[in-house]
Amino acid sequence: MNQDIRKDRNGEKRKIGRMNMTMKIRKATRNDIPYLVSIYNKTFKNTIFSPKKYYKKHIDKGKAEVIEINGKIAGAYIWDINRMKNILKTDVSIRDRYLWLIQVMVDPEHQKQGLGRNLMLDYMMKKELPKRLVCEPQLVEWYKRFGFIVYQNFYHDGKDMYVMLLE
Ligand SMILES: CC(C)(COP(=O)(O)OP(=O)(O)OC[C@H]1O[C@@H](n2cnc3c(N)ncnc32)[C@H](O)[C@@H]1OP(=O)(O)O)[C@@H](O)C(=O)NCCC(=O)NCCS
Repeated sequence: MNQDIRKDRNGEKRKIGRMNMTMKIRKATRNDIPYLVSIYNKTFKNTIFSPKKYYKKHIDKGKAEVIEINGKIAGAYIWDINRMKNILKTDVSIRDRYLWLIQVMVDPEHQKQGLGRNLMLDYMMKKELPKRLVCEPQLVEWYKRFGFIVYQNFYHDGKDMYVMLLE
């Protein structure tokens, strides 16, 4: 946030708050992994999952994008192209290939500034395949904002999960 000095209607000088952010979305590299792990730990609290290998795998496949604010990583998303795997135990068609959104996250310090939306729009611009994602109930409304619809729900590891799709 920068402060700008301007004159108001009465000719008095006034400080005006002004957002001055440079935002950029780019492919993640291995050098980004510590930053991604740090954001993950802040964002998904109380998780025992260690995401380091998982980020490395997707970065090496070119399927991880980061968002930078003034040159600093503030969020990311991970995607993949594959068929529905049996682990989800749903009856979603396994014939088709889908562009899966696997994870999207924004550093809590930068949430509610539109970064999540920009990451979603970047993902949605990947046009080649129909899109799918699996999420927990509290994210359903968020994905609906982008046109995803609930396709079905199922239980996994004692949790209610939703398959959402965007054609
Ligand atoms: C979901 C998430 C990516 C949104 O990022 P963000 O940068 O804050 O999003 P934006 O600033 O673009 O949009 C904020 C808007 O989305 C809304 N929003 C955020 N999370 C939401 C949710 N779970 N359900 C519905 N709306 C939600 C906010 O209330 C805000 O609404 P407003 O525009 O009416 O004020 C971010 O909250 C996050 O990282 N959450 C934790 C990780 C997570 O659960 N990821 C998804 C599963 S992998």
